[in-house]
Amino acid sequence: MFSGKRIVLGVSGGIAAYKAVEICRHLVANGAHVTPIMTTGSKKFLGELTLSALASERVKSSLWEDDDPIPHTTLGQQADLILIAPATAKLIGTYAAGISNDLLTATLLASRAPVIICPAMHTEMWEHPAVQDNIRTLKNRGVFVVDPEDGQLAGGDEGKGRLAATDLIVSKVERVLGPNDLENLKILITAGGTREEIDPVRFISNRSSGKQGYAIAAAAVARGATVTLITTVEREAPPDVEIQCAESARDLQAAVMSCAKNHDIIIMAAAVADFHPSKIAHTKLKKTSSFKKIDLEPTHDFLVDLGEDKLPHQTIVGFAAETENLEKNALEKLFKKKLDLIVANDVSAPETGFAYDTNAVLLLSAETKQSIPLADKRVVAERILDAIVKIRQNDY
Ligand code: CTP
Repeated sequence: MFSGKRIVLGVSGGIAAYKAVEICRHLVANGAHVTPIMTTGSKKFLGELTLSALASERVKSSLWEDDDPIPHTTLGQQADLILIAPATAKLIGTYAAGISNDLLTATLLASRAPVIICPAMHTEMWEHPAVQDNIRTLKNRGVFVVDPEDGQLAGGDEGKGRLAATDLIVSKVERVLGPNDLENLKILITAGGTREEIDPVRFISNRSSGKQGYAIAAAAVARGATVTLITTVEREAPPDVEIQCAESARDLQAAVMSCAKNHDIIIMAAAVADFHPSKIAHTKLKKTSSFKKIDLEPTHDFLVDLGEDKLPHQTIVGFAAETENLEKNALEKLFKKKLDLIVANDVSAPETGFAYDTNAVLLLSAETKQSIPLADKRVVAERILDAIVKIRQNDY
């Protein structure tokens, strides 16, 4: 995600300083080169060695004791992003006032890189007009602010002021560093296998875990899109994604069709059942009953409707879950459903498709074929979105 990106992680002196360790781990694990800068105050809360051991280089703190005679300009100029987590009231005030009184504030002033600050402090401090004025000033200058959360604070207090959750902060980093090539686009994504009710306790379903759909949603948000995810599964929602729940093919169809026209891109990653029971029993079927078989009838393939009624600004993407003749079957679906792109998934291959964290797919449009080798579903999601961007630029 952050491969090749240089991030300065500034840690100022609050109780939440220890959470910088987790943030640092996420950034490094996703390929960023993280240079940590700790203020004197932060070292009262967090051992320098801990952050040094997990970051890409040792903690820096001093304007004067570095091998580099001008560390603040080197760091500020090289950074792709400066992230301050946690940001105390003092740090926010100093930065807003344009004062450079330590390595971190000097680096902030010596940089044209985007800056994200993640405030953390007691509620009274956060709500103080001086702090709110400083936050407004910084926002007006283009600084991104990840607002603190409500919750438990130091000393047993509760209220707004807790450092935002790590995944929210990391997702903000993604959005700021991301290509933003989906900005101003509304994307509708479906995920998971539908459940077709037999009776109040039983249903017919399939092995879809929804992981690929969720990964596309997270990647699309990071690239600037407004995302609605209609899902049949309960997974942790990617930050900033609007979630709607559906259970059966009928539910999913109703949810998708009610908002399809408002979306620029529709990605049908859900494994929609092809059949559902003709009758749903309203009471549990007992084994002593004469019940012998379940009569099934086909569900409606609403991806066909989406392709048929496609608006000029829309891009429609389908999935094809196959166990044989991958390319041939997927191409048939592409043409029959009038899709712009189909993501063909050989669900019988090792470590691909349902439930795995990895996937390998074939991306097919009317003119092109692109094989995406086995990779994390997030990586596959990025490649699918790359293809969609190219299709919309008539370059695929
Ligand atoms: N789909 C749909 N409505 C259905 C069935 C499928 O919208 N009732 C969509 C899926 O979300 C997927 C695409 O159609 O994007 C292909 O689904 P898939 O199950 O692979 O193919 P089917 O067309 O159902 O054909 P088959 O199951 O026979 O392979």
